[in-house]
Amino acid sequence: MKTLVTGGGGFLGSHLVARLETDGHDVAAARRADYDLTHWDDAERLFRETQPERVFHLAGEVGGIGANRVNPGRFWYANLMMGAHILELSREHSIDKLVIAGTVCAYPKFAPVPFREADLWDGYPEETNAPYGVAKKSILVGAQAYREQYGLDSIFLLPANLYGPRDNFDLETSHVIPGLIRKMLDNAERVTLWGDGSPTREFLYVDDCVEGLVLAAERYDGADAVNLGTGAEISIRDLAELIAELTGFDGEIEWDSSMPNGQPRRSLDASRARELFGFEARTPLREGLERTIAWYREHAGAIATATPS
Ligand SMILES: NC(=O)c1ccc[n+]([C@@H]2O[C@H](COP(=O)([O-])OP(=O)(O)OC[C@H]3O[C@@H](n4cnc5c(N)ncnc54)[C@H](OP(=O)(O)O)[C@@H]3O)[C@@H](O)[C@H]2O)c1
Repeated sequence: MKTLVTGGGGFLGSHLVARLETDGHDVAAARRADYDLTHWDDAERLFRETQPERVFHLAGEVGGIGANRVNPGRFWYANLMMGAHILELSREHSIDKLVIAGTVCAYPKFAPVPFREADLWDGYPEETNAPYGVAKKSILVGAQAYREQYGLDSIFLLPANLYGPRDNFDLETSHVIPGLIRKMLDNAERVTLWGDGSPTREFLYVDDCVEGLVLAAERYDGADAVNLGTGAEISIRDLAELIAELTGFDGEIEWDSSMPNGQPRRSLDASRARELFGFEARTPLREGLERTIAWYREHAGAIATATPS
């Protein structure tokens, strides 16, 4: 099957491309340097040149709280435009299946925990990531509308926060896990972390997310958004202590409560994915973190040169 992966050179995308190639797909991994998908002409050229049958839309402008605070307008615009272009081109090219990566940031700030897909529209997202989350949510509406009007088989998945090898370890833009790992391995005496450590998060190992994407592509054909998660919740404070243990960091952990906490709690109800397409996350957090830390240790030199801390 000719499969296009937008964002195929990114963190999640690179793992998905490897998996699809192993499964025997003919994969085109689109890179931004070749096709800026916020530009219609580039997106149109990508579809014309690759003629895909199946599309995974993973391209996104993303980051942790810091990156979201600095780029609210850009994140809203870029994610909205890319999603709109991919939907419209998937319709024009009569794509067999379009799989879209949404985000847990789309949930309301105070959604009941665990987050159920039915609660997606019951409130506004947490402010620091709302422009990104709302842009992605609008793509869900587009996918449902294109399904209704044009019969486009597009599905929309809501992965929990991801982590794993090849994550973004640039401290300016990273999510919490790579940020913690890098800080704790690069600083022996003290690390300063944002917020007070009280918020909770759920983390999905990247290969488990890939498994969810692949299963959904094969087995799910429906309008409803579906969570991809583990159902396991951990506070940022406990996460920091676990990463300290696994990295051997025995310095001081200082909490800067003048900086934002982000959403108070985040954990997904993972039952819909299990019922609809048999997805179950397999990697325990400790094991996934050990693999991620081992990967970072191996690549720290190259990463430090590319992104000084
Ligand atoms: N990481 C998470 O915790 C998480 C959680 C839930 C959902 N997601 C979703 O999963 C997807 C992948 O996230 P990720 O963490 O793998 O991010 P990532 O490593 O930053 O990958 C995103 C990719 O998008 C591409 N991209 C960005 N702007 C583009 C543009 N204007 N035109 C074309 N391509 C563009 C980049 O391509 P180049 O590499 O070629 O520049 C990049 O590789 C995103 O849609 C994100 O919203 C991520």
